[in-house]
Amino acid sequence: MNTNLKRPVKKAVFPVAGLGTRFLPATKVLPKEMLPLVDRPLIQRAVEEAQEAGIEEFIFVSGRGKSLITQHFEIQPELREELERKDKLDLLEKLSHSDIPSGMVQITMQQRALGLGHAIWCAKNLVGDEPFAVFLVDVMTLGETGCMAQMIEAYNNHGGNIIASSPVEHDLTYKYGILDVENESDDVTKIKAMVEKPKPEDAPSNLHILGRYILQPEIFNILEGRQIGAGGEIQLTDAMVTLMNSQPFTSVKLKGETYDCGHHLGFIEANLAFALADPQLGDATYEILKKYIQNPPSLSKRA
Ligand code: G1P
Repeated sequence: MNTNLKRPVKKAVFPVAGLGTRFLPATKVLPKEMLPLVDRPLIQRAVEEAQEAGIEEFIFVSGRGKSLITQHFEIQPELREELERKDKLDLLEKLSHSDIPSGMVQITMQQRALGLGHAIWCAKNLVGDEPFAVFLVDVMTLGETGCMAQMIEAYNNHGGNIIASSPVEHDLTYKYGILDVENESDDVTKIKAMVEKPKPEDAPSNLHILGRYILQPEIFNILEGRQIGAGGEIQLTDAMVTLMNSQPFTSVKLKGETYDCGHHLGFIEANLAFALADPQLGDATYEILKKYIQNPPSLSKRA
């Protein structure tokens, strides 16, 4: 393989311009990426997953009313001093992941919501001529190692473009990008084809694109064409289909669980799962859950 297709991945793109209307009124002022998953905002969880995978530079494709996201990654010396003085080392450690060094955060604006492909294209000049990772922040994963770290391991062996995948119920394929792979039982396998949001009867498999990608920079030339796809949007999946004519794509089946935090029930489930998996909160959360299972609140008391 062309050695260019194996260059290290040091940059990550986070498309965060979306409005988050599903979570109104919670997201009237607060960007949806700032909603907390147990103890930290979704965006920080995604950045931590990137850091674990060796990513050093963070590019936010931002939009109107999203400035809190970049503020979250400002270093606050007074806060750090206060925590040091009080010997709150665990909080200092958690905070340190949002203290991104100078020059390592970049922001570009997506001025109109034209689709995921367009959002990625907006990062073209900041990414330049190198491979990069993409994180869809609505999607959170829980496993022994982070999803992107699992993908980087496959990238180091295969190079090219990598897409994280996991199975979904067959009747839900219309919500996702769906892969057609060489060997569905293999965790790491060549992608033969992919299609954005197919009807269940047209889906080539039930392996969905879960929202983590490693892409080569040639994708930008294709996105430049602004091809309109499913839902009248410029789709990343369509651009990847074109790139497949000249570059390899590999599917990495996630070892772990996927949570769609872009809607209420998925977000509630993610909070439960992450709290149960938390060494400090897990046991107590389990006891709380047991209490509610044994004695569910009556409907009239529900909010
Ligand atoms: C996007 C992608 C889709 C992917 C999904 C994962 O769709 O276009 O291929 O499966 O994210 O969440 P969206 O959720 O933006 O409609």
